[in-house]
Amino acid sequence: LGSPYLYAQETASTQDVLRGTDLPEGAVATAEHQVAGRGRSGRRWDDRPGRSLLCSVLLRPPGGALPQLSLVVALAAAEAIELVAGVEARVKWPNDVLIAGGKVAGILLEAGDGAVVAGIGVNVNQSAGELPARTRLPATSLRVATGATHDRGALLAALLERLDAAYASWRASGLDGLAARLEARNALRGQRVSVGAASGTAGALAPDGRLSVTLDGGHVVMVESGEIEPLDLPL
Ligand code: BTN
Repeated sequence: LGSPYLYAQETASTQDVLRGTDLPEGAVATAEHQVAGRGRSGRRWDDRPGRSLLCSVLLRPPGGALPQLSLVVALAAAEAIELVAGVEARVKWPNDVLIAGGKVAGILLEAGDGAVVAGIGVNVNQSAGELPARTRLPATSLRVATGATHDRGALLAALLERLDAAYASWRASGLDGLAARLEARNALRGQRVSVGAASGTAGALAPDGRLSVTLDGGHVVMVESGEIEPLDLPL
């Protein structure tokens, strides 16, 4: 991953640098600042210039299976964050990374024309006052959590290295080699969650990446994707 590598001081969204292009799988776009950064469900993703890791990776997975791919990217992001910042990072199934204090990274997958653009935004060096207010989950940064600033280049290198390995493993054998690492970082296990209009308690990840939820009333459902929300924060 990382060839070609497209860097911009400022861009609308690194997603758009890669979307709908003929660039090869593995192309990576990063920027110091996005003027129209986007999150999931039509939300915005605001950044402070030079403080975040803003990165998109072009993948061409056979078949699709987006829900699993989101977990692959989230696992790579969590492992890279642990490696570089030395903090425990957990995956809020299926697409956020949490550390003590809140959400530190979010993942956005956009599919089209046989390609998937995987966008990863990590709050790295923002001070508490520079983090966006009024987010769905409280936001934090690696700097707020550790009291130190961190090298975004080292984080990007670790992320691409982890993602390269996790993506290759997923293409070869699905989640087989990754499920245990994901479950070890499952931030929702044992937590009260809402699933649409229902609520229940999240359990373990299934080998196929679905999350089991025991609904109030006792029925167990396997959730494949979509927004599932912790009712109390699993932090
Ligand atoms: C979310 O938590 O809702 C997902 C946020 C994804 C943000 C990243 S930053 C790099 C890439 N470019 C974007 O416009 N969004 C993603």
